[in-house]
Amino acid sequence: MTTIVGFSGSLRTESLNTKLLEAAASLMPDDVTFELVTIRGIPLYDGDVEEKEGSPEAVRSLKGRLAAADGLLIASPEYNHSIPGVVKNAIDWLSRPPKEIPRVFGRLPVAVIGATPGRGGTALAQAAWLPVLHALGTRAFSGRAMQVSGAGALFDTTGLKDEETRKRLATFVTEFITFARENRRHE
Ligand code: FNR
Repeated sequence: MTTIVGFSGSLRTESLNTKLLEAAASLMPDDVTFELVTIRGIPLYDGDVEEKEGSPEAVRSLKGRLAAADGLLIASPEYNHSIPGVVKNAIDWLSRPPKEIPRVFGRLPVAVIGATPGRGGTALAQAAWLPVLHALGTRAFSGRAMQVSGAGALFDTTGLKDEETRKRLATFVTEFITFARENRRHE
């Protein structure tokens, strides 16, 4: 069994990125366990809090899930041509203390997907993710990109309704799962 953890970089109820992630979850093969987790509840990183109390519970529980995972799928919006602060903040907490990075992120296969109502498909955010994934020691999936432009018209309240995007996403999911299995860090 392969376990993939996924989280959305948007906290919005009607988030296009959360809907994209949910669509990806629905396309996972039967022998994959997909765990949809949330970064909601992770406070702003504060070195004083870390020193006095260690990582908050929301961070510790997410770290446990990532340490046991075979892959991580992040659906990241693009804010001001980069990574939204809310998700970067979560990553920063998850990367602490530095001695824990190998256990949580080290050699972990990671893919980033994204949706925007705009034209750029979140390409600039995905580019901004690369040095972060590198710093964490992950195995960044560099297969085909999953970038969704004009997403406002492709989703409704029930989720992804555009067939062409679903097909593209299905191919992406298949290729990422293959990559995660080929680069599995757990025996
Ligand atoms: C945006 N948005 C945006 N879109 C984009 O394609 N490139 C960008 O640089 C930005 N910048 C940006 C900054 C801020 C602060 C916000 C709030 C929004 C629009 C963004 O793609 C849109 O709000 C998406 O719907 C956000 O993703 P979710 O919440 O739908 O998943």
